[in-house]
Amino acid sequence: SIDAVGAREILDSRGNPTVEVEVALDDGTITRAAVPSGASTGAFEAVELRDGGDRYNGKGVTQAVDGVLDVIGPELVGFEASEQRLLDQRLIDLDGTPDKSRLGANAVLGVSLAVAKAAAESAGLPLFRYVGGPSAHLLPVPMMNILNGGAHADSNVDVQEFMIAPIGAATFAEALAVGTETYHALKSVLKKRGLSTGLGDEGGFAPSLPSNRDALDLIVEAVQAAGYTVGTDIAFALDVAATEFHSDAGYAFEGKTLSSAELTEYYAGLVDAYPIVSIEDPLSEEDWDGWVALTQALGDRVQIVGDDLFVTNPARLADGIARGAANALLVKVNQIGTLTETLDAVTLAHRSGYRSMMSHRSGETEDTTIADLAVALDCGQIKTGAPARSERVAKYNQLLRIEEELDDAARYAGAAAFPRLAA
Ligand code: PGA
Ligand code: ZN
Repeated sequence: SIDAVGAREILDSRGNPTVEVEVALDDGTITRAAVPSGASTGAFEAVELRDGGDRYNGKGVTQAVDGVLDVIGPELVGFEASEQRLLDQRLIDLDGTPDKSRLGANAVLGVSLAVAKAAAESAGLPLFRYVGGPSAHLLPVPMMNILNGGAHADSNVDVQEFMIAPIGAATFAEALAVGTETYHALKSVLKKRGLSTGLGDEGGFAPSLPSNRDALDLIVEAVQAAGYTVGTDIAFALDVAATEFHSDAGYAFEGKTLSSAELTEYYAGLVDAYPIVSIEDPLSEEDWDGWVALTQALGDRVQIVGDDLFVTNPARLADGIARGAANALLVKVNQIGTLTETLDAVTLAHRSGYRSMMSHRSGETEDTTIADLAVALDCGQIKTGAPARSERVAKYNQLLRIEEELDDAARYAGAAAFPRLAA
């Protein structure tokens, strides 16, 4: 059972404060978990508690840390660490708000994940096995964000993330090599053209480009330069993060103001021209009717992923499923704030025929929990940035370890992660 719960303020990959929690069990087990943070956050996400004031530009988390030390910790002493669902319910009740704004989702999530890790270690199991059970064996396709725009870069590119999916590989390790070689080839392509090779928040390059199609053309060139075939070895995926450029007037895209129908037309043209298998947040988090129409128009050719739309919230996801909005769920543990609610969202998605993509945040730490969760929850896809910057690479490295541990039982999701493409 739980002996003590500690917490401290540490820094994330952008140099902003975040919460780290440590849990000690009475059998001597000690584990820790650190909490990520987004930049293009959805309005319906659970709330991060930030101190305000001048220190760290208002982004300190000492109140969230104090909440763990003074409110949550004392409540949990003596609690069985393996009772995750009961424990997460206790956290939700202790907070008492629908969006976890009293104690902060950053405080609550840190405790929830640290306890799960402690229970796994105490049981002598790797986290993916403890959470996923004896049959967890599917290694996800790494959706590598190699060109960053939008809120993650100081460029004029509207689309936030241009990802490559190494679908043709036989193993995760091979997929990582194929994707990383392409990333390095992209650097050479950019250099040759005199374009910037500076990196965005998620480790991808962040050049200024005349249009979003130019980004895709550069990636096509990089794939070929690396010796791979576009479409069979490597497919493409986008996170448009369209909420960021949406207002009452419409979508401010490439210097024009577009309606959702016009933006959907634009995507249809992209899907015709490039091997795009997945588009995330193509429209804004408020535009339900647009999402339904877009899913009808494109959903049998391409995966449509709800991030800001669903915010890993089982209730919002249920609403979207009932309406027919999107056909896949982006999974971010800190959008909802507990492991249990994350599991519930993914279970609901899979039972409803929606696919799922595990995801990092643009502000990350060295914590690798999401790598284990991607395998445990059978996601088949993970996005955790470019193969650069250690907070991104740490997750890919953890997946290498998991694949090695699973040995002959491991299976790489590959093209089958996108059934309509495989068909
Ligand atoms: P964020 O971006 O972590 O800044 O929200 C990631 C995403 O939009 O998927
Ligand atoms: Zn997103």
